[in-house]
Amino acid sequence: MYTCRWWTEKTVAIVTGANKGIGFAIVEKLAELGVMVVLTCRNEMKGIEAVLCLAKRGLTVEFCKLDVTSHESISKFACWLHGRFGGLDILVNNAGVSFNEIDSNNVEKAELVIRTNFYGQKMLIQELLPLFRRSVATKSRILNISSQLGLQNKVSNPALKNLQKEEEISEEKIDYMLNKFVEDVKKGTWKEAGWPKIWTDYSVSKQAVNAYSRFLSKQQKGQNLSINCFCPGFTKTAMTGGMGTHTAQEAAEVAVRVILLPPEELPTGKFFKWLSPSFFSML
Ligand SMILES: NC(=O)c1ccc[n+]([C@@H]2O[C@H](COP(=O)([O-])OP(=O)(O)OC[C@H]3O[C@@H](n4cnc5c(N)ncnc54)[C@H](OP(=O)(O)O)[C@@H]3O)[C@@H](O)[C@H]2O)c1
Repeated sequence: MYTCRWWTEKTVAIVTGANKGIGFAIVEKLAELGVMVVLTCRNEMKGIEAVLCLAKRGLTVEFCKLDVTSHESISKFACWLHGRFGGLDILVNNAGVSFNEIDSNNVEKAELVIRTNFYGQKMLIQELLPLFRRSVATKSRILNISSQLGLQNKVSNPALKNLQKEEEISEEKIDYMLNKFVEDVKKGTWKEAGWPKIWTDYSVSKQAVNAYSRFLSKQQKGQNLSINCFCPGFTKTAMTGGMGTHTAQEAAEVAVRVILLPPEELPTGKFFKWLSPSFFSML
């Protein structure tokens, strides 16, 4: 399956929210393939347990604590990473939260969802941008774990639709969209304002992830750093209460194929769906 093994045991990959679920499965798969993986999560005990669990299977990975909602935690992590490895090649932004049940929709924790799923990813990317090795031969990569729920067709408000479609999306426009959403939530007008109907706050956070990935891929073009998004599909994890059409391992299998695409086949600014690493669309 991996005809071009461009990576070595010195290739450094960081995975966030990796004590369980899809993140843990991605770490396991990357480690099996011989990548130097740093498993990160916000709870030290859970992280150490996860590392020990992999060690029992003969896999060596490093651990470092990282809470993506805390700027202090991100700074400490970047400092540790720089000291330990000097830089990184792969970042998998996997950490995420949702407080919706499969068949329910609430926005009570909208601000936390946006802060974790979008601003957490963004803050970490901003901090790590100077540390990517950007090898000409192998290219550095960011894979943002996103969702189809964040695709542009999920909003019915024409102004929001236009905003998301805009060629020249900017950080300010994304912030504007998110502030407007939080405002609508606070005013209690979010239902009639045309936001996504299912898992509303989560979907908005993933729309922001997709839009920012599109912005960043353009900003970084030609600088040996590719930025793509990946939707793992409906996966059996804690987030879905164990429901789903496939396991975290199956989702990770596809994610890792995207992460390790040969440099000459690696696109940037694309949205990958879980079924096949070659099935992607524009963000
Ligand atoms: N499962 C699905 O059907 C599905 C579908 C589409 C997209 N996704 C996306 O896939 C990714 C992984 O989700 P999952 O299904 O594997 O869910 P999960 O099992 O609930 O895992 C989520 C992970 O994110 C971590 N996390 C939450 N807040 C964090 C923070 N502030 N800092 C660092 N880590 C934090 C959690 O840590 P704790 O254990 O400490 O809470 C956990 O390790 C998410 O981005 C999710 O949105 C999932």
